[in-house]
Amino acid sequence: MCGIVGYVGPRECTDVLMSALSKLEYRGYDSAGIAVFDNGEIKVAKSKGRLKDLEEKMENTYKPSGHAGIGHTRWATHGEPSDINSHPHSGKRVTIVHNGIIENYKKLKDFLVSQGREFQSETDTEVVAQLLDYYYDGNPLDTIIKVMSEVRGSFALGIVFSDFRDVVYAVRRESPLIVGVGENESFIASDVPAILKYTKDYYLLEHDEIARLDMDGVKFYDKHKKEIIKEIKTADWDMDAAEKGGYEHFMLKEIYEQPTAIKTTISPRITDGLPNLEECGITPEKLREFNQIYVVACGTAMHAGLVGKYVIEKLARVPVTVDIASEFRYREPLVSDRDLVIVISQSGETADSLAAMRLAKELGAQTLAIVNAKGSSIAREADMLIYTHAGPEIAVASTKAYMVQIAVMYLLAFELALAVDAIDETECRRLTGLLQKTPDYIEEILKNKEDTQYIASSLITADSLLYIGRGLDYALSMEGSLKLKEISYIHSESYAAGELKHGTISLISDGMPVIAVATQKALFEKTVSNIKEVKARGAKVIMVCRDDYTPEKDVADYKFGLPDIDDIIMPMAAVVPLQLIAYYTSVLKGNDVDKPRNLAKSVTVE
Ligand code: M6R
Repeated sequence: MCGIVGYVGPRECTDVLMSALSKLEYRGYDSAGIAVFDNGEIKVAKSKGRLKDLEEKMENTYKPSGHAGIGHTRWATHGEPSDINSHPHSGKRVTIVHNGIIENYKKLKDFLVSQGREFQSETDTEVVAQLLDYYYDGNPLDTIIKVMSEVRGSFALGIVFSDFRDVVYAVRRESPLIVGVGENESFIASDVPAILKYTKDYYLLEHDEIARLDMDGVKFYDKHKKEIIKEIKTADWDMDAAEKGGYEHFMLKEIYEQPTAIKTTISPRITDGLPNLEECGITPEKLREFNQIYVVACGTAMHAGLVGKYVIEKLARVPVTVDIASEFRYREPLVSDRDLVIVISQSGETADSLAAMRLAKELGAQTLAIVNAKGSSIAREADMLIYTHAGPEIAVASTKAYMVQIAVMYLLAFELALAVDAIDETECRRLTGLLQKTPDYIEEILKNKEDTQYIASSLITADSLLYIGRGLDYALSMEGSLKLKEISYIHSESYAAGELKHGTISLISDGMPVIAVATQKALFEKTVSNIKEVKARGAKVIMVCRDDYTPEKDVADYKFGLPDIDDIIMPMAAVVPLQLIAYYTSVLKGNDVDKPRNLAKSVTVE
């Protein structure tokens, strides 16, 4: 995934592009570049590395200056991160930035080479730049439409033509793109935070729509060149949401935002102490229609699905299968029109999750999306939709989005359990009340960051560690382990505590850290037995458990104590120390916490 921006207006374009790109660096950060109309001529500056490398390069060479241009921050797909492969890419009279994947780029490249065209880079993007140039006959709109008909795949493009001074074109298919409008100025961007500093008003470009931005404003066209009138939207996020607000990293800020995010997400969905998802198209009658449920998602969102599975099956006794989206697509799933397929996604643009949802629809299932990003593809295509209200999540490592995803899964589980008469109204009210209290418990836990800092300091020299747990604690272990490895670069695995002795326990050596999550009362003694097994083999055990338990020496070396909350709701509290442990380990290792290596915030490629 990459981030693209564009600007036309009275401000210094380079400054606007660089500022907007800084808000999109979470989308990719291995190279960056801009193209600006500088005294009527398109000047390109690009560099491998972060935006600061580009800034430095421009300071040392030439910094384009003007009032219209396009910019890009890259997460490499075709060709390694390098100056040459960085965007923008140009033909003779056309320069573009691109987010997405051109599937038939090889065929198009072969054609262009056969026509005598030469290529500088290994990217699929340059193929589009050259193709635009090949067909360009002085009419940008016709050329873009012609190229759209030949290109297969996903793209959001920012395009400038050298003989159309201070005009920016934009087009999208699959990859997201918005067009922001301010006073006498307009913008393009892959995501809203990029433009919040300048305006909250924007248009959502739909598939195969084209925008033309010039000093007089913006016009939109469909793929038949017909001008279209679009509805303007206003972002409900303010600038602070996209700033660090005094925190050292976005990840820490987002961890601390969790109590508020839960309240904002669940409060509008609770009436008279009971869940009410009617405005999302979910009624008790509808819920009774389903034989079984599939949850399909990737990464952390999939882990939220695992928590949902435990809770739904326990309370509602409805079978739930959790699938990794990239596996679901290719395993010929036995989904029918009596099934509900829930797709969970923060970005709403994850390619595998989107494709899995489309497949589920083809198979006749009803789909429910749990999504954070408003207007995203998954949100728009699902039959039913529950927005999580976490606000923008900028850090690549997902924390508050996970928290509100599980909060929604709880609401759904409670409403479903009531709808199928697996629990009565009193119990449903009790459970909903527990959920409403979780923000207070989390606030309490967040006051104790010192313990997680101490634990983190004991992990930084480890080569490898294990997370173990049973039941809901196992689902949490998976999330704890993913969080740690993605930002600390320390290898870690999560294991069902009872499964260790079937092979994995042989990995335990003297001093190897094991983080044991033991919050479930019903499973506590069994988990403690498993912990003793690793402790006896030399592991250094860190236990995440209720505060009223004091582990003996043969159980754990260190404990993170949690408040005494009902088992069922405990994951919402227990994940917080796991997030903080990962965060502080990454900080202590001196890593780039918000932008871990090799990753991007949303994965719009298969
Ligand atoms: O935007 P999505 O929720 O669909 O993204 C899914 C995963 O890519 C995401 O959760 C990823 O695993 C995070 N980096 C984990 O912190």
